[in-house]
Amino acid sequence: MRSLVLMAVILGGCTAAGLVNPVLSQPSPEGPSTPRLNSQTVTSASPLLYGVGTSPFRHRPATSCSAASCHGGGQIGKVGSEHSTWAPEVFPAGETDPHSRAYRVLFNPVSVEMAKKLNLGEAHKAELCLQCHAVVTSDEPDIREQILAEGVGCSACHGPAEKWLNVHYLPEWQTLSSRDKWQKYGFIPTKNLVARALNCARCHLGDSTREVNHDLYAAGHPRITFEAARLHYQPDYRKHWAEQLPQPDFEIRLWIVGQAAALRSATDLLRSRAERALPPGADRVWPEFASYSCYSCHQRIGDDVIRGSLSASPRPRGVPGWEVLTNTCGDIAAHYCRIAYPGLSSPTLIEVQKLRKLMESPRPPSVARVKEQATKALAELDAWLVALQAAEDEKPQPLPSETAEKLAHAIANNALSLGANGETLLADHDWDALAANYLGCAAMYHASAGKFPAWKRPLDSLQEQLRFPTPSQGRFDSPADWTVQKLNTLRDNFIQLRNVTAPSATPNGGKK
Ligand code: HEC
Ligand code: HEC
Ligand code: HEC
Ligand code: HEC
Repeated sequence: MRSLVLMAVILGGCTAAGLVNPVLSQPSPEGPSTPRLNSQTVTSASPLLYGVGTSPFRHRPATSCSAASCHGGGQIGKVGSEHSTWAPEVFPAGETDPHSRAYRVLFNPVSVEMAKKLNLGEAHKAELCLQCHAVVTSDEPDIREQILAEGVGCSACHGPAEKWLNVHYLPEWQTLSSRDKWQKYGFIPTKNLVARALNCARCHLGDSTREVNHDLYAAGHPRITFEAARLHYQPDYRKHWAEQLPQPDFEIRLWIVGQAAALRSATDLLRSRAERALPPGADRVWPEFASYSCYSCHQRIGDDVIRGSLSASPRPRGVPGWEVLTNTCGDIAAHYCRIAYPGLSSPTLIEVQKLRKLMESPRPPSVARVKEQATKALAELDAWLVALQAAEDEKPQPLPSETAEKLAHAIANNALSLGANGETLLADHDWDALAANYLGCAAMYHASAGKFPAWKRPLDSLQEQLRFPTPSQGRFDSPADWTVQKLNTLRDNFIQLRNVTAPSATPNGGKK
């Protein structure tokens, strides 16, 4: 197969030192004094995880939040200016919040072309696109258009505001538990990293309610991938909040929670795809190509002999990996869970492993077996996330100081394996696997804010190698030149990273 034109996965901001440095803040939005807390209880669709399931409450437009005395203040990035920070019109160029333009992009030439190819009618009217590019309200025709036009507005991340809008600034609100805020008011408690990451993942990876499948990719949709730490520190993303937990603890926990959230979204998506393909005579797409690592199919063959020689392939030859980017570091996150959250035990993720094995068996897996195994894996992941979520609701204990270093070491090691003759190989030469390992190490480096200068060189080189060819070399949205030379350089960089993150290494790279 030719190398195909795929859309770029941006490996942006993670290695750059000194990006946004979270400052402690304690915003308390004030508004006019209004009603008392509403005690009427409405249970949500999901009894356990905040924000998962469909809330029965109605959405409110973002303009309900934009009063100058609420979130429409004039100081970008400051408490009380969240709406101004999110809104597109304030700074036409430079940093923006991409969510406020998410609806508008459905009118651009790429979207128009996509909708035409997929026979969807107009993209900005297609429920398929709107699920992720806007906030959809079905039962309120008078405000539906307005809310849609705002794109990914406040309530996409903070929950439908019908019930909480008039009470969330009252002193009583602060006394509510996260669970009550979600179940009784439909408010997604975004300070809880589990609630937050699960919510980002449903659009940035997909779940049983929304997806970007291979048809959408083939029609021109950019590839979507989810790694929470990268998304949080994307350099041109103008965030409207400051994290309360200081680094490195914040990003270490976010990285771990993000891995769990990504696995849950991917598993939920797989389970629902299997469910849809199961009935006899179903208009079935099975297996769905978008579940598999893109570049196991989309790469040049014949340029270089790379298979088998440079890596101890984790799967049978010729079999594409299932959700490789999502799966690569999941076991490390599970292992380090008990360190990042003292008191929690680390899950074994045995059902997830079985699912991976099933998806990566030499014959295409049977729909029924995948559905069954994905259901088990989902239950296993939910149990893990529920425990993490409860730990997130507690006051966080500071992490041992060497946690970022240990994690970076484990992740660099994860990229490598030992060959039959004692030589060091790549554990998996798939672009997604290498990118996941790189992103994990880069998050630990970024979390440690300049503490480990010796990590920078191998990280910069990894980023360089993983970047897709630049436009001057032709338009490439895939790692088209995936050569032996490049893979050797990647391997050497991971070896170097493993050495400089080893417990005996000094921060500047020399041995003690
Ligand atoms: C599962 C959620 C999801 C669905 C469904 C979805 N998108 Fe997207 N879309 C995204 C995300 C997330 C991005 C941002 C990708 C990135 O840059 O990382 C995006 C990016 C885009 C972009 C590029 C935007 C830019 O600023 O250049 C276009 C165009 C687009 N989507 C159009 C569509 C159209 C048209 C549909 C329906 C046919 C659709 N999307 C369905 C999640 C989705
Ligand atoms: C893409 C998701 C997303 C969107 C869209 C979004 N927010 Fe946020 N918001 C967050 C996250 C994540 C945080 C950080 C966690 C927290 O402080 O709750 C946050 C924090 C906040 C805070 C600080 C809360 C506090 O007590 O510190 C306010 C206020 C806020 N957002 C208001 C808004 C408003 C108003 C809008 C719409 C104009 C909006 N947000 C849109 C994700 C989002
Ligand atoms: C309702 C769906 C939705 C949710 C929830 C959501 N996003 Fe997005 N996000 C999008 C879409 C759609 C785009 C593409 C917008 C565009 O480019 O026009 C996007 C773009 C982005 C981008 C820029 C593209 C990229 O890949 O660098 C970042 C960063 C981002 N989102 C971070 C987050 C974070 C962090 C969260 C959770 C706190 C979140 N998003 C939650 C839909 C969503
Ligand atoms: C199991 C193999 C396989 C996997 C995995 C796979 N694809 Fe494809 N893809 C194909 C085939 C086969 C075609 C059709 C090739 C052709 O007509 O040239 C195709 C076509 C495409 C096209 C249209 C290319 C064009 O030039 O028109 C895009 C874009 C694309 N795939 C993106 C992706 C992305 C993104 C992923 C990962 C999320 C992915 N593919 C995963 C096999 C795969």
